[in-house]
Amino acid sequence: HPSNPQMEGNSGLRRANCRAKGGAPGFKVAILGAAGGIGQPLALLMKMNPLVSVLHLYDVVNAPGVTADVSHMDTGAVVRGFLGQPQLENALTGMDLVIIPAGVPRKPGMTRDDLFKINAGIVRTLCEGIAKCCPNAIVNLISNPVNSTVPIAAEVFKNAGTFDPKKLLGVTTLDVVRANTFVAEVLGVDPREVSVPVIGGHAGVTILPLLSQVNPPSSFTPDEVKYLTDRIQNGGTEVVEAKAGAGSATLSMAYAAVKFADACLRGLKGDAGIIECSFVTSAVTELPFFATKVRLGRTGAEEIFPLGPLNEFERIGLEKAKKELAESIQKGINFIRK
Ligand code: NAD
Ligand code: LMR
Repeated sequence: HPSNPQMEGNSGLRRANCRAKGGAPGFKVAILGAAGGIGQPLALLMKMNPLVSVLHLYDVVNAPGVTADVSHMDTGAVVRGFLGQPQLENALTGMDLVIIPAGVPRKPGMTRDDLFKINAGIVRTLCEGIAKCCPNAIVNLISNPVNSTVPIAAEVFKNAGTFDPKKLLGVTTLDVVRANTFVAEVLGVDPREVSVPVIGGHAGVTILPLLSQVNPPSSFTPDEVKYLTDRIQNGGTEVVEAKAGAGSATLSMAYAAVKFADACLRGLKGDAGIIECSFVTSAVTELPFFATKVRLGRTGAEEIFPLGPLNEFERIGLEKAKKELAESIQKGINFIRK
């Protein structure tokens, strides 16, 4: 009913209950910030994912419209909308996976860290809800600055006594997607045939593509290495400038978010050999969080892979990345502790 504050996008309740009783496969997924530039195409793509049985769309604005729209798609997932803080708990209860693209995006001239002031508080509130209503859910955190919002989320979960490091995953897939695209262009091959590990974090020099570990093994001239590293590190800024004040990457980000969420769901389902890069709690460097390849399984990021052999250029890049990362991580931790 349109006046029902907790919107049913379609006559979903009966179907959702049936499925739950029948134990049919499918996961319950919430998107927080579902009416935004990323949230809307992400909702569309998750509604198309056969692993999703229930899709909750939460935002502080426009959730009813997006829910009504997406719910008309004749795919399996039951869609429900939730508008505003009073409905956050209902949006989160029972979820297996929570994807968070809530928060403000950059405009030209801004760094991702400039978003901290607004987005840190948004992420804190949403994570407090997760700790209370679905403490066992996998969390895919997209809101920037990811290098600080993931530590914020970890602190909130620690305070609530619910922190499971395997289940908190910062989404860096867009860096990998860009790296695959730009490297394929240089090599003159199909991007689907290329796999580039991108480690570190998700901002400027903390984004460290490992071109020496590209699959299939490929060699690059020093000029190509410089061009590719710069372009991958500044891919977000390239989009921010092209959009000229209208926001940052949304469509390629929704694609990347779905790629990563689908990998998480296949891991939850028990599929073997699911490996993606993600910014997670990690012991591969001296920093408490770091992005590397991880293996996704039934309980989240079950294995964190080491960096592998780095060349001289990458070793220098790693030192720069760690320096900036350390500050961004500490800033996130301080936001909750102080
Ligand atoms: P947007 O402004 O288009 O959408 C953000 C949405 O969040 C809006 O609908 C807004 O109403 C909602 N929102 C604000 N406060 C909220 C709250 N407290 N609870 C729930 N929803 C809330 O922005 P966008 O382009 O979709 O980008 C969202 C975020 O994702 C930004 O921080 C951006 O920097 C980040 N981002 C990250 C990556 C990445 O690779 N990790 C890539 C692109 C963008
Ligand atoms: C991106 O990499 O596109 C996002 O982090 C958004 C941004 O601000 O660049």
